Amino acid sequence: MEQLSDAYEVVGIGFGPSNLSLAIALEEHEGRRDGQPISAAFFEKQPALGWHRNMLLPSAKMQISFLKDLATFRNPASQFSFVNYLHAAGRLAQFVNNQDFFPTRQEFHDYLEWAESSFSDRVSYSSEVTSVRLPRDGGPAGHVEVEVRDTTPRGGVRTVRARNLVVSTGLVPRMPAGIDRDTRIWHSSEFLERFRTLDHRAVKRVAVVGAGQSAAEIVRFVYDSVPGATVFAIMPSYGYSIADDTPFANRIFDASAVDDYYHGGERSKDAVWRYHRNTNYGVVDDEVIRDLHQRAYDDEVRGTPRLEFVNLSKVDSAKQTGGTVRLTLNSLRSDETSDLDVDALVCATGYDSMEPSELLGELEPHCLRDEQGRFRVERDYRLATGPDVHCGIYLQGGTEHTHGLASSLLSNIAVRSGEIADSIAERRTNRQYSTA
Ligand code: FDA
Ligand code: NAP
Repeated sequence: MEQLSDAYEVVGIGFGPSNLSLAIALEEHEGRRDGQPISAAFFEKQPALGWHRNMLLPSAKMQISFLKDLATFRNPASQFSFVNYLHAAGRLAQFVNNQDFFPTRQEFHDYLEWAESSFSDRVSYSSEVTSVRLPRDGGPAGHVEVEVRDTTPRGGVRTVRARNLVVSTGLVPRMPAGIDRDTRIWHSSEFLERFRTLDHRAVKRVAVVGAGQSAAEIVRFVYDSVPGATVFAIMPSYGYSIADDTPFANRIFDASAVDDYYHGGERSKDAVWRYHRNTNYGVVDDEVIRDLHQRAYDDEVRGTPRLEFVNLSKVDSAKQTGGTVRLTLNSLRSDETSDLDVDALVCATGYDSMEPSELLGELEPHCLRDEQGRFRVERDYRLATGPDVHCGIYLQGGTEHTHGLASSLLSNIAVRSGEIADSIAERRTNRQYSTA
């Protein structure tokens, strides 16, 4: 039974760090201080806040400075800063004494939960947005209808109205072509929950595919957690390459770099990707690389090798039969194929960008595309739409082609959320989304 309920100025789809940051930006927006709060509701399909929980490996560190938190770069005085979190947790002094810009992912997750606890009145969990449509009944001008499915056994569907949508559904896990998931064939995004289902005493051989951060962290974790197992690290490169986070290259993630990218021509956009892809994709932090090399070296000294680096190789196919997965590897060196039997296969083969077409459903044909068929996105992260759509549709993610490398990352979320909040407030003032 479908229920049509409330209307909000902002409906956020997904409640990961991006929309949590937006909730903070809306809360701190000057419109609110003037006594005109911007009403917002967020829908999250997970049962609670969870930031890549299946990759919360014990020693995994953040890949950005703690100062690039949910709010500081927009409002250094925000009560939702990481520093304020540390203060509230009684760890500020020890954090500073630790002299590390990069907290563990577990600590950052705790920070996210701490910040989230101030917004629980605005978030519905176990609530998956399944579709968006133009109003059926000539409802209030400038609204769209958002269908939300309750993912608990209780079930049910309800519809809310929104003047603005902020889509922030995150990266989409990518399996290698021709390989399907199975009970022992996993993508890295499901790693921990799957790994826990194995009887570790019986695990002797695990293969991890990929040469990125996820692959390297999982190889280290499996090596450390299953002392009797051999770990096969299958990678297309010769060896793991370092993620460039040196100071000049890191400027690519500055808020000002978004303007440079957005207003730059195709040649400058291409140059950014060509020169700086290695800040993020298919690369690994120095610390993890050194950790792995040390383990391999120590094994050699002991004469008990348990890390097998299968380099210059891709996985062509994988098939599970009973408790065994047979991989077919293709060597880029010789172009020969070979088989490898393992107890479990982890495909740390990356992610596709957020792609909201399916979710936007009925609205999608009204969203304008560029000559390459990609969404046209305004500088304020709003999709360019045709004359029949009066609501704002904002994207947090999926804007690599318009806003650059940081689109899927945390680096710029505080500033981006502030820009979206400003845009929503300004359009309200100018009544740009109203047909009335
Ligand atoms: P995120 O994916 O976090 O959240 C999206 C949310 O939307 C999810 O909670 C999902 O359940 C929900 N959702 C999806 N569809 C829905 C629907 N239809 N209805 C309702 N809810 C829906 N970047 C960085 O800058 N520094 C870092 O240290 C890291 N570390 C890192 C580790 C790992 C393991 C990965 C895979 C990625 C990173 N990243 C990163 C990049 C990563 O994209 C970034 O950290 C954030 O997760 C981006 O936050 P979002 O809120 O945009 O997406
Ligand atoms: P990624 O960087 O895209 O790496 C995917 C890897 O898989 C690439 O090396 C790719 O090689 C390889 N690959 C793809 N298909 C293959 C095949 N068939 N056979 C062999 N190799 C194959 O993905 P990721 O490591 O998951 O990282 C994604 C994002 O999450 C990044 O932003 C990363 O920084 C972040 N992350 C952060 C943390 C942390 O904060 N601690 C942890 C994990 C991930 P090609 O390049 O040749 O395609």
